[in-house]
Amino acid sequence: MASAVCLVECMGALKYGCSSMAAGLLPPTPFFHGAKLGPANLGRSHKVSMTTTVPPKAKEVGKSKIHFQPHEVQEQVTHSMPPEKVEIFNSLEDWAENNILIHLKSVEKSWQPQDFLPDPSSEGFIDEVKELRERSLELPDDYLVCLVGDMITEEALPTYQTMLNTLDGVRDETGASPTSWATWTRMWTAEENRHGDLLNKYLYLCGRVDMRQIEKTIQYLVGFGMDPRTENSPYLGFLYTSFQERATFISHGNTARFAKGCGDLKLAQICGTIAADEKRHETAYTKIVEKLFEIDPDTTMLAFEDMMRKKVSMPAHLMYDGQDDNLFEHFSAVAQRLGVYTARDYADILEFLVKRWNVEKIEDLSSKGRKAQDYVCRLAPRIRRLDERAQERAKQGQTCAFSWIFNKDVLL
Ligand SMILES: [Fe+2]
Ligand SMILES: [Fe+2]
Repeated sequence: MASAVCLVECMGALKYGCSSMAAGLLPPTPFFHGAKLGPANLGRSHKVSMTTTVPPKAKEVGKSKIHFQPHEVQEQVTHSMPPEKVEIFNSLEDWAENNILIHLKSVEKSWQPQDFLPDPSSEGFIDEVKELRERSLELPDDYLVCLVGDMITEEALPTYQTMLNTLDGVRDETGASPTSWATWTRMWTAEENRHGDLLNKYLYLCGRVDMRQIEKTIQYLVGFGMDPRTENSPYLGFLYTSFQERATFISHGNTARFAKGCGDLKLAQICGTIAADEKRHETAYTKIVEKLFEIDPDTTMLAFEDMMRKKVSMPAHLMYDGQDDNLFEHFSAVAQRLGVYTARDYADILEFLVKRWNVEKIEDLSSKGRKAQDYVCRLAPRIRRLDERAQERAKQGQTCAFSWIFNKDVLL
């Protein structure tokens, strides 16, 4: 997980004018979804609360102002999955051990960041660092913005482990629970932890970026958290992670290709190696959803519809550097322009998942389930059409100063 990158509505909001992507398809915020959209929440009571802070809200603490809350208006729905559904995940315990944990790699066979970086204990360290810095001179500023945004997203990993542990029926109840679900979450986190570590060290050594500003952004982002709107439901949660792992696979794959094009083969290898991890994670999460479609097709279909109607928010959507209130949108716009992650990718991921789960062919659905099926199967072309229209309306020539690269201007 932990994609860099933008998402359809964010890119639309920034670059193309807010209404573009949203019109008729993606509901604008604030949008009170709690009463109707939970996958299996009919007749159930669940808590709905609301955060109302635009832009980042500062509170007076002693003499200093501290930003405590993200700059988003969002309704928060909790525990929308009926309690009896927890049994489904308990019953899948052995299945997860045999089918999901096999997608983890042992620590002894795993790559480590040090495999790709100059060895500080070697005599050649300084020369290797010099070479790294020379290679990085070929990387343009807009590419660096994308790479930094990807790195910051990876570095907010504590938030993603927290998110997985919000999910009813699969959370790690103790912090060292032996269940398959909890084991997966911890081992997945441990694998992911290398991603931000490696990118962070590379960017530190290259000397092209303002590390202090980047570190501030990471601290803000971890402090703000994220709101994927998964409502403590593992149905929504695993749909979300399926989508996100693929998004990160695409994004890191594109930064790898771009680095190769700039002649930095080591960086290309770094990004490509991370992308390969994301692909493996995608395989595991999509397998879980495939199983849910098999044993509980109606709930899973309604959850899929719910997730797509709400839009899949990006993990770093609350990023802030202490200066730019629209930092995520600006970062997303650069990623879109460079082709690192685009609105078209969003539609492609949706289409990929629809095919991966054979959604069109799923039977045994209620009438609501069939409507949900129809909605998700037709959605990708609609998103693409909206994207094309938005691109036509896009304002060209806007720039933004990014603190991550010493306030240099970058074309959006
Ligand atoms: Fe991942
Ligand atoms: Fe990652």
